Amino acid sequence: IKYVAIVLAAGMGKRMDMVQNKQFLMLKDKPLIIHTLTVFEKDPWCDSIVLVIQPTEQERIVALLSNYSFATPIKLIEGGKERQDSAFLGLRALQISDKLVFIHDGARPFVAQKDLHKLARVANEHHAALLAVPVTDTIKQRNGKRLKTLDRERLWAAQTPQAFQYDLIWRAHQVARQSSYVCTDDASLVERLGHPVEIVEGNYKNIKLTTPEDIKKALFFLENE
Ligand code: CTP
Ligand code: MG
Repeated sequence: IKYVAIVLAAGMGKRMDMVQNKQFLMLKDKPLIIHTLTVFEKDPWCDSIVLVIQPTEQERIVALLSNYSFATPIKLIEGGKERQDSAFLGLRALQISDKLVFIHDGARPFVAQKDLHKLARVANEHHAALLAVPVTDTIKQRNGKRLKTLDRERLWAAQTPQAFQYDLIWRAHQVARQSSYVCTDDASLVERLGHPVEIVEGNYKNIKLTTPEDIKKALFFLENE
């Protein structure tokens, strides 16, 4: 199975509380975004990468990429204001009809190749799938002053990559844009079309580096690889 990976790196990394975009954060020997790209570079199933970046960071990214001789073709695309806009722009840059596309957070460098392959197999058959892990916390929903405790047995924490047949996710993004529907992941746009999305159980190690505490976890994972 072959797929194209869209890697989203056009955010600001505000919650990381650094002076620069977290994508440039040095983790052991390489910046975060290079760790993430390396996962796809190493995967023989990944045909090519679309890297979505902030226009102001293009020069810096080009210089950075020139230090690593990635064999997988990488196309740079300008991102947008929200993650959803960046995913849309990444998809727009591709016209691959019935092929498989993975949409992945640049800030998730620890996704395992075996999970990429599990995901590809399921998405190839069902056209929409995501990696997710069972929620370990008890989740409360607050409606005004009333609390409701959600049934943990049925709750999953969504991760990326999320994998789709290209035509399906492209249509889902277009429909969402037309109705100004806002989301934090791509699968929800497909769910909204009424199309089923498969859950593929991933790994708790596939964290998104979001807050400074996550850097400690990341360094620990890298030390213990
Ligand atoms: N992203 C993007 N374009 C945006 C916003 C986010 O490509 N307009 C990317 C980020 O670069 C990141 C991924 O989407 O790799 C997940 O988003 P998040 O963890 O929220 O990253 P940031 O938006 O950069 O961080 P923050 O929300 O703390 O500012
Ligand atoms: Mg964000």
